[in-house]
Amino acid sequence: MALNRQGAIGVFDSGLGGLTVAAALANALPHESMIYLGDTARVPYGTRSPATVVRYARTNTDFLLKQGVKLVIVACNTVSAHALGGLAEGATTPVLGVIRPGARTALARSRGGDIAVLGTPATIRSDAYLHAIHEVDPDRRVHAIACPLFVPLVEEGWLDHPVTTLVAREYLAPLAGTAVDTIILGCTHYPLLRAVISAVAHELIGHPVALVDSAEALAIEAGALLDRANLRAPDATAPGAHRFFVTDAPSTSQRVAERFWGSAVDGDSPLILEHVDVVTSA
Ligand code: DGL
Repeated sequence: MALNRQGAIGVFDSGLGGLTVAAALANALPHESMIYLGDTARVPYGTRSPATVVRYARTNTDFLLKQGVKLVIVACNTVSAHALGGLAEGATTPVLGVIRPGARTALARSRGGDIAVLGTPATIRSDAYLHAIHEVDPDRRVHAIACPLFVPLVEEGWLDHPVTTLVAREYLAPLAGTAVDTIILGCTHYPLLRAVISAVAHELIGHPVALVDSAEALAIEAGALLDRANLRAPDATAPGAHRFFVTDAPSTSQRVAERFWGSAVDGDSPLILEHVDVVTSA
């Protein structure tokens, strides 16, 4: 089936953290419509086995494809790390993940020092960022750290809470005395902890480090892909329409969703969450 320029960009995540990626897309591509799916009934993915992550990713992708999207964006680092190849294989709709754009931006921002990657246990176990960095620079030293408590702390809204600083000190302790000059925020939630991570890293490493959020790099890559495939929205004057679906009851997600979406967008776009059951509708 030919892809439709008028179709929306489909974005999915294990939950609501992917709204940081959706927000970057909305900012970079304001005339594109977007359908966001947050699998809030099955979040978190970051502590699950690769086979489960792949299975969940498939149902989410199938839902978006049924909506006629022209591009699928995997906003979730954990899914990008474990399932991107499988989702893209044989698909007529292009599929983009966050790992490669993040790795490439980190290499571009680094001044030749080591790179640290922070992510969920599943992302870190996959070594996906390590491989993506070594594809470009095989000799670059990479420090990978799983930070499982960061996701619940962000969901709780403890963005500048002393407990969050203590937890960050514990996770980032192995970076003390290293030559790290760039840190990849390899999880949808971590951009909201930018201030804490930056301060703790500075304190431990002894100089400021660059923090890389894959979302902005991904948004640029998505725009370039739409141009190459001649898939840009035909009307470059009208703002794109945005729809947001969640798999758990929307009422439980509204507050957290607004935190993720509102953190990066001008705040004008209304965030109305609609419910969908991607398992039974598959
Ligand atoms: N979206 C996930 C990621 O970026 C974080 C939340 C989860 O564990 O599902 O890895």
